[in-house]
Amino acid sequence: MLIRQKRGWELPESEATPEAVFRDRRRILQAMGMGALMAAAPAEAVLAAVPADPSAGLYPAKRNDRYTLDRPITPEKLATTYNNFYEFGSQKTIADDAQELPIRPWTVTIDGMVEKPLTLGIDDLLKRVTLEERLYRHRCVEAWSMAVPWTGFPMKTLVDMAQPLSSATYVRMQTFEDPKVAPGQKQFWYPWPYIEGVTMAEATNELAFLVTGMYGKPVPRQDGAPLRLALPWKYGFKSIKSIVKFTFTNERPVSFWEKLQGDEYGFWANVNPDVPHPRWSQATERELGSDERVPTLIYNGYGEYVAAMYKDIKGEELFR
Ligand code: MTE
Repeated sequence: MLIRQKRGWELPESEATPEAVFRDRRRILQAMGMGALMAAAPAEAVLAAVPADPSAGLYPAKRNDRYTLDRPITPEKLATTYNNFYEFGSQKTIADDAQELPIRPWTVTIDGMVEKPLTLGIDDLLKRVTLEERLYRHRCVEAWSMAVPWTGFPMKTLVDMAQPLSSATYVRMQTFEDPKVAPGQKQFWYPWPYIEGVTMAEATNELAFLVTGMYGKPVPRQDGAPLRLALPWKYGFKSIKSIVKFTFTNERPVSFWEKLQGDEYGFWANVNPDVPHPRWSQATERELGSDERVPTLIYNGYGEYVAAMYKDIKGEELFR
């Protein structure tokens, strides 16, 4: 995770327009046998009539006012065109390429040390949860930050569905793996698939949020459709995208970044301005949008919710 010089929103408008969204809708129309209609009607009218995502009707969800921001919401255009999603490349401008990711059918598996192993489609999962919107800060380890209106449901809801055994101490999460649509996964030096992990206490902390939407709409592919995590007190790399599997285990998961460079990206990765990354300071962050440098807060400002989980953990690098 290197800081790139060029910013995502400096893209010319023509490049930022996700052409592949158009291509994807074309595919849907063709599958629906609407080729003739496509030929006859103005393209915009046809495209507007076709929902891009079958869950679109669930949004916007009611905002939960408990989680407030100390800064303006990042403009949607920035948050959805300045991304880290290494499956589609290591540059920030992967939004267009990510449109190749098929998000239906999408199967989520819950397995490991649980009473109720489950395999279900994303739309069945959506039927079993109540969606809400939350405003969260999002702080990348690269020292840029955003403020995002996520929609989703508490991770605790999924934990309760699984009914973990008392011996389960961690949740390991895994992203899809398909090098045919995700060219980054052809880069053999990365330890695919993307893996992340949290403790059971973290998974059931009220802030741990499974995201299915963003800005009052289904979460776009480049931001981790159809299911990603948001852990606002940790560096952004813990917030794994496009999840296909949750495994309850008693072994601490070794994450993608930890495997790649364990001395820089650890298991805990809690935000702390006083603990520099080995190659740069974490004291401040650049807010996408205003581009201002603002002080970084311990636990990204969420200490009142999470600090207690770490008070008895000794001899570990909690902040890297
Ligand atoms: N999840 C997967 N599967 N692949 C990734 O490359 N990048 C992480 C995280 N989740 C990443 C991922 C990093 S480094 C960050 S900062 C956030 O996603 C970025 O989320 P955003 O693009 O929605 O801002």
